Amino acid sequence: MIPAIKKRRSVRQYLDQDISEEQLKEILTSAMYAPSANAIYPWEIVVVRRSETKELLSRTTPWSAHAKAAAAVLVVIGNEEESPDWVEDCSIVAEHIWLAAVDQGLSSCWIQIRGNDNAEKEIKELLNIPAKCRVLCLMPIGAPTQELEEHGDKNFIKSRIKNEKYK
Ligand SMILES: Cc1cc2nc3c(=O)[nH]c(=O)nc-3n(C[C@H](O)[C@H](O)[C@H](O)COP(=O)(O)O)c2cc1C
Repeated sequence: MIPAIKKRRSVRQYLDQDISEEQLKEILTSAMYAPSANAIYPWEIVVVRRSETKELLSRTTPWSAHAKAAAAVLVVIGNEEESPDWVEDCSIVAEHIWLAAVDQGLSSCWIQIRGNDNAEKEIKELLNIPAKCRVLCLMPIGAPTQELEEHGDKNFIKSRIKNEKYK
């Protein structure tokens, strides 16, 4: 598992190449097994594969340009009426998606939407997402144009780990 976690990078450039139904199914399966506070699973995913829609999504924030070239964009939405823990639950779903994409030889890079009210409103209108649902993030999926360097030992920062008590 650690090799896969080290391999996961934020990849923002994708080949002009579709992903297979099997790959997409594997990625969506990884989301289905994410843990959820009180086992509520207050989340849904909108799978966007149409070019025009991906392009519109790519314009919603200054940091979302890479959505345009992705083979698919998975829009992770949470129902805030169902669970106050929708942010945590959706975040785990997004990370499962990201790791499963890497496991499939694909790549992704989280696009943050929560906290950007204009972007969230635009996306909800564009995708007919009901008012009770919130958009956490977009997860573009595509074949990477190049392999980014894997995370190495420099990321293991010992000072971040406190033993028994903080001080
Ligand atoms: C909560 C969260 C929000 C992020 N939002 C964006 C974003 O909107 N656009 C983007 O290009 N990258 C975004 N990223 C990717 C980070 O920039 C990236 O994870 C970080 O630079 C570390 O690089 P790595 O993912 O390759 O390890 C986000 C990552 C997280 C976890």
